[in-house]
Amino acid sequence: MLGSKSINRPLLALAISAALCATGHASEQDNNATAKANLLLARMTQDEKISLVHGAGFFTSPIGGGGYVPGIERLGIPPLNYADSSSGINLAGKNTTPLPATLALAASWDPALANRYGTLIGHELRTLGFAGGLGGGTNLAREPRNGRTFEYLGEDPLLAGTLLAERTKGTQAQHVLGMAKHFAVNGQETDRFNSNSVVSERVLRELYLRPFEIAVKDGQPAVVMCAYNKVNGEKACENKHLLSDILKGEWGFDGYVQSDWVMAVTDTARAANSGTDEEEPGSPDDNQPGLMGRGTWFNQKLKAALQGGTVATQRLDDMVRRKLVMLYRHGIMDAPPVPGGQVDRAAGDKLALYAAESSMVLLKNAPKASTSQHAPLPLDAKRLHTVVVVGGHADVGVMAGGGSAAVPARDGNAVVCRTPGAKDSVIGIFDLCAIWHKSSPLEAIRVRLPGATVTYFDGSDATAAAAAAAQADATIVFATQYTTEQIDLADLSLPDAKRDPANQGYDQNALIEAVASRARNTIVVLENGTAVTMPWVDKVQAVLAAWFPGAQGGPAIASILFGEVNPSGKLPITFPASEQDLPQQAINTRNPDVDYDEGLLMGYRRYDAQQRTPLFAFGHGLSYTHFTYSNLHVTPYVNGDVSVSFTLANDGPRGGAEVAQVYAGLPADSGEPPQRLVGWQKVFLKPGESRNLSLTLPAARFSVWSDGWFVPQGEASLKVGGSSRDAHGLRASFTLGKRLLSAGA
Ligand code: BGC
Repeated sequence: MLGSKSINRPLLALAISAALCATGHASEQDNNATAKANLLLARMTQDEKISLVHGAGFFTSPIGGGGYVPGIERLGIPPLNYADSSSGINLAGKNTTPLPATLALAASWDPALANRYGTLIGHELRTLGFAGGLGGGTNLAREPRNGRTFEYLGEDPLLAGTLLAERTKGTQAQHVLGMAKHFAVNGQETDRFNSNSVVSERVLRELYLRPFEIAVKDGQPAVVMCAYNKVNGEKACENKHLLSDILKGEWGFDGYVQSDWVMAVTDTARAANSGTDEEEPGSPDDNQPGLMGRGTWFNQKLKAALQGGTVATQRLDDMVRRKLVMLYRHGIMDAPPVPGGQVDRAAGDKLALYAAESSMVLLKNAPKASTSQHAPLPLDAKRLHTVVVVGGHADVGVMAGGGSAAVPARDGNAVVCRTPGAKDSVIGIFDLCAIWHKSSPLEAIRVRLPGATVTYFDGSDATAAAAAAAQADATIVFATQYTTEQIDLADLSLPDAKRDPANQGYDQNALIEAVASRARNTIVVLENGTAVTMPWVDKVQAVLAAWFPGAQGGPAIASILFGEVNPSGKLPITFPASEQDLPQQAINTRNPDVDYDEGLLMGYRRYDAQQRTPLFAFGHGLSYTHFTYSNLHVTPYVNGDVSVSFTLANDGPRGGAEVAQVYAGLPADSGEPPQRLVGWQKVFLKPGESRNLSLTLPAARFSVWSDGWFVPQGEASLKVGGSSRDAHGLRASFTLGKRLLSAGA
């Protein structure tokens, strides 16, 4: 995938050491890393140690990244530059690849893609001289109005954790430090520096910490970023229970904890003694007010704390040792990244296209009842004479999310902002204007319809668009929903000019209603950062969630619409029928306490337990072919693992990939919601092909928390199907035996 000409020499040398690891020398290499780190540590002065545990200040990275820890030449410790890289590197002018948002990655349900996603980002980071990536967001989508939902991996802990582990492996195989963030329970942006997530230990363990646990244990990220918010009254970066007892203690995390930026740390001793190992962005002078006027904590103040004995020397050594071990383990000491390389744009585009095509979710595809023709998708170029395309700036590009996760548009922004220069009102650095990648869906549609008349309306005149739609064989309406760090959405409806003056010039819901009332076929394509409510859903024939689809969004959308690629994405978050169905009715802007008093009833767990019908269920996603499940067998093993096998057949007309999902219902008295995801497999089948699939589900996937992990005893069930609510899914019962897996901290 990565062009060989872009691989540099130190990397080749490192590839050899990676190959050695793969052949079983990993622990030896780790021992070496620790031994070397200890030797180096013994040579360091206290000032040198302190210089390694804080950044040099905001925007100080000489190569433009979000964080910078200068090196120590005398000791051969290279400078550490970190760049934001949620779905590509947030660095202007370097041709970095804007991949589809991480929420889209989650919608692919494809661990192999997650690995390639991480690999590409890691490779580009190293090519540009960065040792660490500030990506890897995995806060669960309890509150889909959270402005950062697009940066995370959905609402299910197993799906999110598995994909993050794979992404991390991909990045770290490129000898770049991988990351999991924001640890933990950083579920919304409102008042994010002060908010306090109040959550029970059981819910913490089973839901909000679980993706981190999976990613830390399976992916071994070098860095965990602790969050801004408080968790049960303690700042996440000053939270001994989270950082020392659980992360480093129970889970054995041997990397380092990096603070989130600006105001995650509020006290030197509390942060250091709780387990934070590096303060970012840091400052040359802790007493300078800095961006939010609160100063910093891990420079002169740390020195004073060491002198005063409130932070022990051993703790400073531990902070430094953790970092040095990671630098040795990931080959950064031996072959530091060298800035100045060229990103391989073609390789990036190739993955961006594949990832976008793998992640779009076909939510609805049904013929208009009154005319009962075929389903509107895939579009058949031979039968289309007139097509109308409306709105969403589809003539020029596709939307992307904002904040630190933004990836600059490589060829300039496709859309002129309606409020140029507008920034968020809290911190004043995040753009209210979206990035639009120059990748026009309209152009890609036109290419596929050389003989047809394709007319574009910009959406501002709903009446004109509707009149044209009435004459067209098909009408495709593009709708966009901008989301960004620092700002939560007021609701999940498609924004209008009032809600989002920077990016919207008209009422998108009214436009869709107007078009749908007259069109023969209305197809809605969403470029969305989270779930969307759809008051018009019964009036349109097809809905495609394209998410923020990245640099190749235009061609990817067209290839799905025309059936060159059969859609295979599945929802990683529930689309609620209304905000009333969410755990909190509204985001409280006055009370910093965010009570997670819904307990485990979050995401699909909530809809199932309360027997509510969502707009579109978790795991839902249609295909242009048809899959049938049969032959379900469940075998519990003596070691507590459960084996499940079934046959999946593609009995429809075309090839396609299905995400076969396995859900477990735990014994009735376990206090668990009706079902949880315990496994899945994404498989491509040719038309007429069937395959026997078998998955081994580790005992941990059936466990619940009560001062430790245990598997509850009793009658349980397994359900296999194409979504969490597949009416044609298969079900079988089996018996779980009680089993203690691990004791708590
Ligand atoms: C975000 C982090 C990001 C950091 C550096 C913070 O505001 O929460 O996710 O990595 O900024 O840009």
